[in-house]
Amino acid sequence: MSYPYQITSKEAYQQAYKKSVEDPEGFWSAIAENFQWKKKWDKVLEWRFKGDGAPVVKWFRGGKLNITENCLDRHLNTLGNKPAIIWEPNDPEEHYRVLTYKQLHQKVCTFANVLKNNGVKKGDRVCIYMGMVPELAIAVLACARLGAIHSVIFGGFSAQSIADRIQDGNAECVITCDGAFRGNKTVPLKAVVDDALVQCPGVKRVIVLTRTRTPVSMIKGRDVWWEDEIKKVETMGNPDCPAEEMDAEDPLYILYTSGSTGKPKGVVHTIAGYMIYCTYTFVNVFNYQPGEVYFCTADLGWVTGHSYVVYGPLAAGATSMMFEGIPTYPDAGRFWDIVDKHKVNILYTAPTAIRSLMAHGLDFVKDKDLSSLRVLGSVGEPINVEAWQWYYDYVGKKRCPIVDTWWQTETGGIMITAIATVTEPIPAYATLPLPGIQPAVMDEHGHEITDMETSGNLCMKFPWPGMLRTTWGDHERCFKTYFSAYPGYYFSGDGCLRDKNGNYRITGRVDDVLNVSGHRIGTAEVENAINMHVNVVESAVVGYPHDIKGQGIYAFVITEGNHDNNDDLTKKDILETVSRIIGPIAKPDKIQFVKGLPKTRSGKIMRRILRKIAEGEMHNVGDITTLLNPDIVEDIKKGKV
Ligand code: PRX
Repeated sequence: MSYPYQITSKEAYQQAYKKSVEDPEGFWSAIAENFQWKKKWDKVLEWRFKGDGAPVVKWFRGGKLNITENCLDRHLNTLGNKPAIIWEPNDPEEHYRVLTYKQLHQKVCTFANVLKNNGVKKGDRVCIYMGMVPELAIAVLACARLGAIHSVIFGGFSAQSIADRIQDGNAECVITCDGAFRGNKTVPLKAVVDDALVQCPGVKRVIVLTRTRTPVSMIKGRDVWWEDEIKKVETMGNPDCPAEEMDAEDPLYILYTSGSTGKPKGVVHTIAGYMIYCTYTFVNVFNYQPGEVYFCTADLGWVTGHSYVVYGPLAAGATSMMFEGIPTYPDAGRFWDIVDKHKVNILYTAPTAIRSLMAHGLDFVKDKDLSSLRVLGSVGEPINVEAWQWYYDYVGKKRCPIVDTWWQTETGGIMITAIATVTEPIPAYATLPLPGIQPAVMDEHGHEITDMETSGNLCMKFPWPGMLRTTWGDHERCFKTYFSAYPGYYFSGDGCLRDKNGNYRITGRVDDVLNVSGHRIGTAEVENAINMHVNVVESAVVGYPHDIKGQGIYAFVITEGNHDNNDDLTKKDILETVSRIIGPIAKPDKIQFVKGLPKTRSGKIMRRILRKIAEGEMHNVGDITTLLNPDIVEDIKKGKV
């Protein structure tokens, strides 16, 4: 496969950028020509960021296609026997698996027929809660084959979180595994689903894949085994499954993500624009060359897994590594062993993983053969200079460019980044916008700052094909969250600096959203979960710098009565409550019991002060004279944990 839209020089980058601003429709339609359409589009772009019913964003209106034909069928003649997915299991002793494009195509068709037999049709929502096994990718693609909308839930979320997501999307079918292997642990996925389904009478079918042989309860009439259903399709003969004709703007998936208020919202991505955007960014950012082995360590429960383990690489005909385990099992050399074993050329991972491996020392990396590596990527949070340098020196052996890719669940694909081998990486900077992306930096009065060297809030002033179209079931919420702060602009929720050459440095969230080990968690969500505990009166959650996780979760909690004697037990109970309500990933790292919280006269918690205390900036908490209860600040400082 060749990529006529691949940018290979600085001049070409500049030209492409210019073209994308001056003639965005021409720019994107030329790229869209490289995909397989059942019917071409009538209009490239229709958009409105403000006004009634906004945002309205339609790319390739009138176009008809199926994304799986682009990810699978069209490669069969040329790449049929080439690996599409190489899967490395949690336990290195277990044999890895390779699925060629032909095999993956066949498995997706078979499983799409399984879904059909179980009543799933175009437009239905299917909830997927599985470990990182190849069948997860197969399930996702099988939904897309039928035009069903998948909603993948990360394995670290609780039964309650699953129930919330199933109810929000009205899913009638759930796909899961008996369990998942994670390091030396087994996570009982089916049991968690069972707990969730107590609250979800609308779910008619649960399809269960065998992975861990964890005992499960199979409910008659509702639960079926993946393997049995496959057999049924196979004994019926031809397992082929024609790809449903979909509209360019039909939803492809829902992915829930946290914001500063309320429950997580379902970000909706639509088919054509998303497909084109993730493929275009994949090929360019990593400078992918046909035949190379590309390894993105992300879980499919997050957007990075959707865009850069499955859709982007497969639409580009690439070989995508899928990894079931964790970076430190059986030891902190696991990534490097995989790189060596499969001769990985491109590695895309998160700063938190790099920091945790750094902490284990050089012994696990220094003697590994990493000579196959050519390009390194980073995603999910700002990468600190120390981690950047370690990645560059010891993993890339000072030979491999690091692309620090800034983007979000809502953007569908990478937005601001260096382009490997083309533009210059700068430690701690995401650097430049990709062609097609028009960032704007806003001042505190809501105006765009036109000076090059500046800082402010990061917005986008023009649509791109991969952007979210709505939040599931609540378009107004989409408008309010992303398009109301700066009318006419998409607001990312991030702050940034821009240097005199136009390079962007992302400084982190400016709203009440935390980034813990690259996982996005709303402080309000964690507070709501803590407040569910019977002894808790009120709580306030803020982030603080954490060596490995980037940000840690610090909770200030007011409890009923006196807990001097059993603080530890209460803390454990609170952690258990958060695990139950959201999932283990949202457990606070520190809990401090307090008698009161600093509040304004109108009763608003002054998080700014709490943040300073959590960060250890005791002498610099700012003005406290406007507080209702200034005395409480000293008290809280004294009790800092
Ligand atoms: O704050 C930014 C941070 O992660 C947020 C998006 O999180 P999520 O939607 O979960 O997507 C993560 C994977 C794309 C952003 O608002 N972020 C992501 N990448 C970077 C980053 N911050 C700095 N540098 C990055 N490269």
